[in-house]
Amino acid sequence: MSEKLNIGIILGSTRDGRVSPQVGEWVKGIADQRGDANYEIVDIADYKLPFLGEGDAPGIAAWNEKLDSLDGFVFIVQEYNHSITGALKNAIDLAREAWNNKAAGIVSYGSTGGARAAEHLRGILGELMVADVRTHPTLSLFTDFENFSVFKPQDIHGENINLMLDQVTTWSRALKTIR
Ligand SMILES: Cc1cc2nc3c(=O)[nH]c(=O)nc-3n(C[C@H](O)[C@H](O)[C@H](O)COP(=O)(O)O)c2cc1C
Repeated sequence: MSEKLNIGIILGSTRDGRVSPQVGEWVKGIADQRGDANYEIVDIADYKLPFLGEGDAPGIAAWNEKLDSLDGFVFIVQEYNHSITGALKNAIDLAREAWNNKAAGIVSYGSTGGARAAEHLRGILGELMVADVRTHPTLSLFTDFENFSVFKPQDIHGENINLMLDQVTTWSRALKTIR
């Protein structure tokens, strides 16, 4: 068996008071128990990315290096106006080759489980040659959070996270052979 895969759990929101770190840590907790890959939280906010075309901040190179080091991704996606956040779209646009021929899973949340945002993301990932897996855990702001702010996931979601990770790791390993 070859060396362990590196899978980044990308937090899609950057606003003050965001809940994405709670969701990302929960996914990482489940993932780490599997022992099949190196899982790490990748926080877009850490890179202080400018908008595309508005300067060459050092964060852009650091962001691309981080993506380069990863074999696959789990996107923590929140629904903003029926789509992904502007921060996530900008971060996606700030890299190109570093995304290509890798796999991704999506964990989304919102009033309808973030489904509309997740479907938008799938279209974007197709353009970047990222293979997005089928299983897609959807978390409800109404039943998986208290007061829309404290993450209390229902037990049923854990099984779906593992199914999604099975698919992400299998495809990440397969795609590594063609890079
Ligand atoms: C600008 C904005 C637009 C939003 N639009 C939607 C929406 O269209 N559908 C939805 O289900 N939730 C919507 N929400 C609610 C967010 O999904 C919810 O606040 C979630 O916690 C945001 O993720 P975050 O806390 O990680 O930033 C919106 C929130 C914001 C800030």
